[in-house]
Order: sequence, then C-alpha cells, then structure tokens
Amino acid sequence: MPVDLKATLIDPADPTYKPLLDNLQGNIIKAHGRMHTASLFLRFTGTPAVVKKWISDFARQYVTSTSAQIEQAKKYRNGKDGGIFGNFFLTALGYQNSQLGIMPRDRQASFNAGMKNVRIQDRLGDPPVEQWESGFQQDIHALAFLADDNEARLKAACDTVTASLNGVATVLTKEHGVRWLNDKEEDIEPFGYRDGVSQPVFLKGSTESPGETRWDPSASLELVLVEDPNVPGRDCYGSFLVFRKLEQDVRKFNEQVSRLAQALGTTADLAGAYVVGRFKDGTPVTLSDKPGTIEPRQHIDFDYEQDTEGARCPFHAHIRKTNPRGDTGRLAQPGIPLEQERRHRIARRGQPYGNPNGGAAGLLFLCFQSDISLQFEFIQSSWANGIHFVKMNGGLDGVIGQGTQVPDGPLWCKTYGSLDETIGFDFSDVIKLKGGDYFFAPSVAFLQGLGTTGSAR
Ligand code: HEM
Repeated sequence: MPVDLKATLIDPADPTYKPLLDNLQGNIIKAHGRMHTASLFLRFTGTPAVVKKWISDFARQYVTSTSAQIEQAKKYRNGKDGGIFGNFFLTALGYQNSQLGIMPRDRQASFNAGMKNVRIQDRLGDPPVEQWESGFQQDIHALAFLADDNEARLKAACDTVTASLNGVATVLTKEHGVRWLNDKEEDIEPFGYRDGVSQPVFLKGSTESPGETRWDPSASLELVLVEDPNVPGRDCYGSFLVFRKLEQDVRKFNEQVSRLAQALGTTADLAGAYVVGRFKDGTPVTLSDKPGTIEPRQHIDFDYEQDTEGARCPFHAHIRKTNPRGDTGRLAQPGIPLEQERRHRIARRGQPYGNPNGGAAGLLFLCFQSDISLQFEFIQSSWANGIHFVKMNGGLDGVIGQGTQVPDGPLWCKTYGSLDETIGFDFSDVIKLKGGDYFFAPSVAFLQGLGTTGSAR
C-alpha cells in the first residue's frame, strides 16, 4: 500500500516506510551532517546509453539512501566512521538531453524552466546570468554531490569520479563546502550566526524535539516528497532541490551593523540580532534583548504573537521574513490558516564555502521541497523581497532581500520593545548570487536501474 505522505514524524523503524526510505536519497528528510562536501556540476557529452550506464554505476557506488544514511548516523554516534555520502540530482535539461525518462512535471513549471529563465530571474530579483560565475552560466545537466568527514578521502573520491567522466560529461564547475563551527562546535554561517537551528522535522526521535507550546516544527512528508514518475506505484519518491551559490560580503555586513548600532545608540550584538532575528548564539531577539538568556528549547519553540508591532523583532528580520510563524494570518491577511503559511516551508541543507580567516565566502544554499514555486520562490519573492510583507512598508529582508527598498529604509526601534522612537535605515545588499539551478533528486531505484536492460523505467 502506498505511504501516506500526510504522515508527520514518521518512525524510520516502522516497516511501512522501509521501501520509501530504501529508495529515497539521503539528506532530504534529515541532514547528512558531514564536515566537507564537493559538488560537481555536469554537462553530459556522451550518448544517452553511455550517460545512463555512468549514472547507474555512480548511484551504485556512491548514492546513499535514507535508510543507509540512518544506519551510518547510528555508527557515527557510536564513535565510528560514518563513511562517504553521495547524492545525484538532475536538471530538466539533463532529463531531456540524455532521454532519462519522464520528467517530474506536476506543478513544476519552475523546474522545467530552470533558474536562468528570465521570468524566474525577474520573480526572484536575481542578477543577470552574465554576472554569474562562468561555470554556472552554461547549461547544467546534473549535480554529483559527495560528502565526508575525511577530507582526503573526499578528494580521492572526487578525483576518481572526475576521471570516470571522460567521454560522459564535462565538469562545468566544482564547489567545496565546509561546516563552520563556533567555539561550542555549533554550525554557523559566514556572518557568524548559528545556522540550521529551525528546520521542519520529519522523523520521530530527531534531536530537534517538536515544540510543545508556541511552534511545532514537525512536518509531513508531502512538504518535500513527490512520486518519482519513472518508478510509479512502488513507494519511490524524489524531491526538488534549489541550489544557489550566495557570496556573503562579510565586511559590508559588519560595517552596516556598526553603523546601525551607532544610529540606534545600541550594541552591535543587538543591531545584528535585529537584522537576522537571532543573536549569534541563536537566541531569538523577539524573546530577549541579550544572547544566552533563554533555554535552548526556546530557540525553536517561539512565535511572534507577543510582538505584533515588530518592536522586538523587526518585520524585516531574516528569520521573521522567511518563517513568519503565523504573522500571515495574524497581521498580513487575517483569516489565512497557519497550515497554509506552513506549506511554504523548506528543508534547508546548505553549507558555507570559503575560509573563516578571510577571502571570498558565502553559503552554498540548498533546500528541498515538493513545489519550488510554492516554497523557495514564494519565500524569496513574496516574503523576503516583498517590502509590504508582513506590513505596509515593512521593507526588504536585511540578509537576502532583493529589489527596491522602501524610501529611507525600513524602521528600527531605538529602544528594544518600544515604538516610541524609530529611525529609517537601509540595511541591504550583503549577498550576491553567483549561480545555481533547479534539480530533482530521483529515487535510488530509478538511478540504479538506468544502466540495466529492462531498467526501473
Ligand atoms: C547567504 C544567505 C543566507 C544567510 C547568511 C542566512 C542566514 C540564516 C540564519 C543565520 C538563520 C537562523 C538560523 C536558523 O533558524 O536556522 C536562517 C534561517 C532561515 N533562513 Fe536563511 N540565510 C541565507 C539565505 C536564505 C535563503 C535564500 C532562504 C530562502 C529563500 C533562507 C531561508 C531561511 C529560513 C526558512 C530560515 C528558518 C527561519 C525559522 O524557521 O525561524 N535563508 N538563515
């Protein structure tokens, strides 16, 4: 019997989910957690038969199913080596170019068009493709993704994979990601803020425990999964992936934070928290004007019901824009059910690139979803770039907002929690898109079956 995709917090030990988890690529419903990653962006040059055989071989050797990922994580928790982890993703052009079967089309005009499409660029406020890094300007067909805690082993695997691509595909560009950690060994992004704190939770017993009071992070499988159209009726699912290389201007961010702090007569810590919505240690600014003052559980379990005027967490703060936690029904469009707003959520799986000690750095932003238009694109275009969301003249998302800012910049409170005195300040333009694309993560059965006669299709 097919799995009910409306199920939340599924138990991976429940045999009902075994076929699904055996055939679903890893990293979709749970992060792989490896220290180092390598992303090889490919353009196929071989005949369809050659390409299919190569994909099947790569899938058998490297692509990690969710079941295997869960087993590796158990080993890792017992102090053992989790081993290498792999994914394989296809663009719409990749499906077409090598006749790789039916494309996952349902509600997926965005996937079919790709991130370079002018209408999509316009919707997202992206810079023209000519300004992207040259590798990303070309037609991308696939992304081979590898991750490992052991950097030398990852490099060796990358070299082997690259050599095997002779006559099959060209590597257009190669991106290296690495986890950045703070002094408590928690993940941070290049501006120095804790990242990966708030995520939709799909599995029972995940470390991020579901909220009991204000915010429930649990999510149903349908938020990220769609049936793999090439293996129908066999509990074989896939997911849509958005990849964006976002360069972060760390110096400009810090300068703007200092200027904002000066203008407000407050600390850089609090000014930065107003921009992101959290202090560097993850403390939500809507709950406290100081870091380190609340229980870790509250880093996830909160909403903005006690902050409806944006006097503690500004409406334009990054985390309030990208997950308004009920602001839509409360303030923007009264009557919109919370569940409708929650349908826009994404599973973020990005990783920083660059070096914490200097040089170009940013985020290799990755997110999974079942509908790119309704999820990633909606968050970026309607919320982050929407200067009137959640409120008229609320302004651009200070971290990722693109487009025209409100005149004189959005408003910021001089005193935490009080609207008595506010100033306008345009905090924007701290990240730049260097390239990216839309992908589908097909089922493991489909990928492995590509090389055989009477394949999975
Ligand atoms: C370089 C670019 C970006 C930086 C530096 C950044 C930074 C952050 C930080 C520090 C957090 C707080 C940690 C957490 O709650 O997990 C966060 C949360 C989040 N970000 Fe971003 N982000 C970036 C790009 C994006 C993009 C492109 C999107 C989607 C369009 C996005 C969507 C989200 C969402 C949905 C959350 C969780 C909010 C919540 O549930 O409260 N971010 N980001």
